[in-house]
Amino acid sequence: MTKGICTAAGLLLAILALSYSCTKGSQDVLGGGTCDTVGMKYATDVVPILTNNCYGCHGTGNTAGSGGILLEGYANLRPYVVDGKLVGNISHAPGYNPMPYGLPKLPDCEINTIIDWVNNGYLNN
Ligand code: HEC
Repeated sequence: MTKGICTAAGLLLAILALSYSCTKGSQDVLGGGTCDTVGMKYATDVVPILTNNCYGCHGTGNTAGSGGILLEGYANLRPYVVDGKLVGNISHAPGYNPMPYGLPKLPDCEINTIIDWVNNGYLNN
């Protein structure tokens, strides 16, 4: 009887350990996997990055942290694309103001997402 419980418990532990390592394995693959930065679009790809990292200082009604620089909305963002400051700032290129201000550089995947959109003509798409 005791032995039976032990075997069952051991089996259960083994299954748990296996399924845990499997889940972890697939998450690792997803996390470190491919970064798709082809055909990036303004609304679906660029805006979420800006929302998470930039609108805190550059959002509508929320520009106190940047001295009034508004980047929310296509028409407001566009001039900073045209003058090269958007890409220069997020790439931390020499001579530009590194953004997000006072915070670590964005992950390469997010920078490349924005660069792809810019290189494809920065459409309001
Ligand atoms: C903590 C506040 C803060 C955050 C977050 C922030 N910025 Fe800024 N941003 C500033 C300030 C302050 C300035 C004005 C810098 C200056 O003129 O010295 C600025 C200026 C800018 C400008 C205007 C051009 C220039 O360099 O003067 C652009 C474009 C810009 N930021 C892009 C971004 C982008 C893109 C993000 C998100 C990836 C971002 N910022 C996140 C504070 C912030």
